[in-house]
Amino acid sequence: MTVNENPRAAAQHVNELINGACATQVIAAAVSLGLPEQLAQGPKPADQIAAAVKAHAPSLFRLLRAMETLGLVETREDGAFALTEAGQLLRADAPQSVRGRALFAGDLLWKQFEDLTHSVRTGERARTIGHEGFAEFPNNPARLEAFQRAMVETSVRAVHAAVKVYDFGRFGHVLDLGGGYGGVLGVLLQTYPRLTGAVCDLGYLADRATAYLGEAGVGDRAAFIGGDFFKSVPAGFDLYLMKFIIHDWNDERALTILRHTRAAASASAKLVLLEQVVPERLSRDPADQAIARADLTMLTVGGKERTESEYRALFAATGWRLTSITPASDTIAVIEAAPG
Ligand SMILES: C[S@@+](CC[C@H](N)C(=O)[O-])C[C@H]1O[C@@H](n2cnc3c(N)ncnc32)[C@H](O)[C@@H]1O
Repeated sequence: MTVNENPRAAAQHVNELINGACATQVIAAAVSLGLPEQLAQGPKPADQIAAAVKAHAPSLFRLLRAMETLGLVETREDGAFALTEAGQLLRADAPQSVRGRALFAGDLLWKQFEDLTHSVRTGERARTIGHEGFAEFPNNPARLEAFQRAMVETSVRAVHAAVKVYDFGRFGHVLDLGGGYGGVLGVLLQTYPRLTGAVCDLGYLADRATAYLGEAGVGDRAAFIGGDFFKSVPAGFDLYLMKFIIHDWNDERALTILRHTRAAASASAKLVLLEQVVPERLSRDPADQAIARADLTMLTVGGKERTESEYRALFAATGWRLTSITPASDTIAVIEAAPG
């Protein structure tokens, strides 16, 4: 029976949607307080956790109880709390950690969505976030770290999927343009031992990106280039790769980035975008929900998720020719273009 045929199911469905905000902040609070790390060594009672994280014990108990209703922790016979399998993913050191995403969702993303009505009315970015966009991050190091960690988490997953469907091994020298800490480049260099590359991003990321690439074990084959893709793009690479860059910007800005990339690329170079290609029609499928969510997120920062024909048009206007779109996961596709 669908929600349309059952009024009680319809009410439950819409209430769950309305109350999603609570789950976002329960998780963000738990992660901010370091609860997953406290429980990493095994079950603990609430008052012991509260003492360790310097929280108000009765209130922390209530947070843990709420987490239990969300399936993130469970209570043992003796009243101690333990992480569930889902809760383990909130640990910083979990292989599939979503900790960065949780902090980003509870802070910056939360602020963006506060002004969604304004963005829909006007087409403008949210007024609840700064006007300077990426340039503002250095003023808020915790927010910068949460944002870039969230990017690394999705990048590592996306690139592990992408290398299964697209041969990056035929390239020699790759530029991860707007690469942040280098989550994309890190996986590529780990996968292809002969590949070398560079992350090009805003100069304030130099130390963090260099440290990340070193920790990923590829520091000897990876450089960091401070730059601004609205001014120019470095030449000399045979693959120009951008993950979640073009979607950040409106058409005018996206065209500028693609034009500068084309000016830097030789006739034999390739361009690859890792993006979420919007199907002509979206369904209720979780993958389509994720694409719609990403698109509204982009609306609130002045960008957009695009359809295949929209990417084709951007390429055609900037000296690129769409050569292939290869789905890598439910949401991420490898979009390849050649000079043309
Ligand atoms: C959505 S993040 C994507 C990061 C990375 N590609 C990933 O997916 O993990 C966008 C990136 O673009 C960078 N960026 C923003 N404006 C830039 C500019 N003018 N020149 C170069 N990089 C820029 C940001 O610093 C940020 O790292």
